[in-house]
Amino acid sequence: MTDLAAVDFFSDPAVSQSPYEYWDYLREQGPVVREPHHDVVAVTGYQEVMAAFKDHDSFSAVNAIGGPFPPLPFVPEGDDITNQIEAHRHLFPIYEHMVVMDPPAHEKARSLLSKLLTPRRLKENEEYMWRLVDRQIDQFIERGRCEFLSEYAKPFATSAIIDLLGVPEADRPEFLAALGAERPDGNRVGALDGEPVGLDPLKYLDDRFVGYLAERRREPQDDVLSGMAAAVYPDGSTPELIEVAKPATFLFAAGQETVTKLLSAAVQTLGDRPEYQQMLREKPDRIPTFIEEALRMHSPTKIDFRLVRKTTTLGGMHLAAGTIVMLCLGAANRDPRKFENPHEFRPDRKNVREHIAFGRGIHTCAGAPLARVEGQITVRRLLDRMRDIRIDETNHGPADDRRYAYEPTFLLRGLTELHIEFEPSA
Ligand code: HEM
Repeated sequence: MTDLAAVDFFSDPAVSQSPYEYWDYLREQGPVVREPHHDVVAVTGYQEVMAAFKDHDSFSAVNAIGGPFPPLPFVPEGDDITNQIEAHRHLFPIYEHMVVMDPPAHEKARSLLSKLLTPRRLKENEEYMWRLVDRQIDQFIERGRCEFLSEYAKPFATSAIIDLLGVPEADRPEFLAALGAERPDGNRVGALDGEPVGLDPLKYLDDRFVGYLAERRREPQDDVLSGMAAAVYPDGSTPELIEVAKPATFLFAAGQETVTKLLSAAVQTLGDRPEYQQMLREKPDRIPTFIEEALRMHSPTKIDFRLVRKTTTLGGMHLAAGTIVMLCLGAANRDPRKFENPHEFRPDRKNVREHIAFGRGIHTCAGAPLARVEGQITVRRLLDRMRDIRIDETNHGPADDRRYAYEPTFLLRGLTELHIEFEPSA
C-alpha cells in the first residue's frame, strides 16, 4: 500500500499510472495544499482551479509547461514580481509560444491564431476529417484488429492539423514522416512533455512555415497559408514571419498528443463498456456528451502550472509572489463538490460541459472545437463501420483484470497502446 503522504507526484511510477487516489488524498487535506517535494502548491478543487485560471493578473502563465522544472531563474522579491518575470522570460521553456505568454503579448499572438481558426476554416477542416476517418479505417478494417494509437489516433490527429494549416498536398507525406506520425513510437513533438526527440520537429516546422509564409507574402495565392501571411495585428502592424509561424507550429505541440489521448480514452471506454456501443449507434446525438464525459474522466492535460505574480490568496491559502502553483485539471474534473460520483463514467452527465479539460480564462484551449469534432467523428464512424468492438485480451488481459499502461509523464495522461478487435460491419 502506497504511503500517499510520501508520494512525489512528479516521479512516482504508480501515481503516473493512476493519479486519482493521490489527488483524492490531497483534496482531503484541502483544495489548495503545499506539496512537500518541490515546494509546489497543488490545487485539486474545481472552484479553486477555475479561480486561478480566471485571475491572470495574480497568476502568470510563464511556467505553464515546466512548473518547477527548471527551477525559477531568479529569487522572487516583494509582493509583485512582474518585472522579474519579464526580465527573465526568455529563460523559461518554450517562452516564444503563446501558452506561456501573459498580456499584452499573449493577446497579440492569439489574435493571429484567431485569424486562422475562422468558422469557415473549421468547417472545411471538418469536411476533410470525414474523408480522413474513412481512409484511416480502410487501412486495417479487414484485419478485424488494430493498435489504435499508431494505426488510427496519431496519424489522424496529425493529419487534421496539417490540413487545418493548409499545408500543400504534395508536402503532406513529408510532414507526416517528419512528425513521426507513421511510426508506432512516433508523433512526439515533445515540447509539451519536455521529452527529447531525435529530430527537432518544432524547429523543422518553424523553418517550413517561415518558408511558406515568405513565399505567400511575395506571391499571394488563394489558400490558407496566404491568409496567414497577410494577417496583421489588431493595431494594423505587420508581424514578423516567425511571429506568424509560431502560433501555427504550436498547434502540433498542443493538438497531437492531447487528441491522441482523448481518442484512445474514448475507444477504451467503448471496449470496456460494450453497452455504450449500441446506445450510441442508435442515438448518435448522444455522442457529443459521451466525448465530454471522456474529457472529464480522462483529462488528457493532467496538470497545468502558474506562477504567482502578485501576492494573493487562493482557497483561503496565502500565496506569496513567486509561488509555483500546480493546477490539477484531472483532479478538478473529479471534484465531488462539482461532479456527483466523480469517478463514475456517466454518458448522460448533466453538468459535464462544465469540465475544465480545456482550461479556462484567456488561455482556454484554442483547439477545443477541433478536438471535440475529432472525437465525435471518430466515435461515429467507428460505430458505423465496426460491430462488437472489444479490448484485445492477449494484450490487455480479461475484463475483470485489465492491464493498461499509461505514458509515464507528469503533464499528460493517456494510454501507451490500445489493442482492439472488432467485426467489420456489412
Ligand atoms: C483533447 C485535446 C486537447 C486538450 C485536452 C487540450 C488542453 C488544453 C489546455 C488545458 C490548454 C490551456 C493551457 C493553459 O491554460 O496553460 C490548452 C491551450 C491550447 N491549446 Fe489545447 N488541448 C487539446 C487539443 C488542442 C488542439 C487540437 C489544438 C489545435 C489544433 C490545441 C491548441 C491549443 C492552443 C493554441 C493553446 C494555447 C492557447 C493560449 O495560450 O491562449 N489544443 N489546451
